[in-house]
Amino acid sequence: SGSGLPLMVQRTLAKQVSLCECVGKGRYGEVWRGSWYADSVAVKIFFSRDEASWRRETEIYSTVLLRHENILAYIGSDMTSRGSCTQLWLITHFHPLGSLYEHLNRSTLTRHQMMAICLSTINGLLHLHTEIHGTQGKPAIAHRDIKTKNILMKVNGECCIADLGLAVTRSQLSAGLHHNPRQGTKRYMSPEMLDQSINTGCLESFLKCDVYAAALVLWEVCGRVAPAREYRPPYYDLAAPDPSFDDMRKIVCVDAARPEPPDDPHPTMVGMSQLMRECWHQNASVRLPALRIKKTLLKLAAADNS
Ligand code: ADE
Repeated sequence: SGSGLPLMVQRTLAKQVSLCECVGKGRYGEVWRGSWYADSVAVKIFFSRDEASWRRETEIYSTVLLRHENILAYIGSDMTSRGSCTQLWLITHFHPLGSLYEHLNRSTLTRHQMMAICLSTINGLLHLHTEIHGTQGKPAIAHRDIKTKNILMKVNGECCIADLGLAVTRSQLSAGLHHNPRQGTKRYMSPEMLDQSINTGCLESFLKCDVYAAALVLWEVCGRVAPAREYRPPYYDLAAPDPSFDDMRKIVCVDAARPEPPDDPHPTMVGMSQLMRECWHQNASVRLPALRIKKTLLKLAAADNS
């Protein structure tokens, strides 16, 4: 399996984990800090109505070797029957700083910190999007729910991407095998998702949606470079806290509105503004692929350090 442990051992592991404190609650369920002997682990407890996300995430971590410093590391999954109730656990590494969303709400950033966050997030996305051939290979994977709440902050200043509950591969799409009733987050949905013009039979279409959502993440992060205003979610000035599909369609497709890029004249910030515009473009086919975003960020970072 993806954790490198046989199922019997994983089962045993889940029984040895004790839940310590709840660190997150949402529509998905809850995340707890758990302890396994001396180690902290994160335990995501899914609502049983979202069993499809637990299955999808468990399946992808178990069939694809996804060990990468910018992707949340998997330890194991567990399904336990408790009378009439099914308990679904996903056990991963624990990151004490929590999500990028929480981090941005708490802290302003130096340009250097901003760049470490953006580069590592894009590096994780690039790994997901890249097909690798060979015995240690992996298929190209579209995430489909990129947002700051699904990115975790590591203590070294880099990020890792979490929540693979909606992730899809090409073979799944062609087999018509992605029947998760859950949708991505409306605020981060691309124009082609919102006007339903997307070709849902094609993995590349979903990779472009990830790039659109990643551009909104870059905007959120850049908005916290000191001296900064307070944290704002994308479209904070145009969309209500829990916008409907139609609210977002009007904003993103009809009015073609986008967030206001930073107006800091520093060359790095000018470069970041241009990069986000290229990545949230209305026309999905001209958005940059993750590898091109990474190369642009590396160039901006090198110029800032020289
Ligand atoms: N919130 C969601 N997942 C988490 C994790 N793995 N570590 C810390 N906080 C989290």
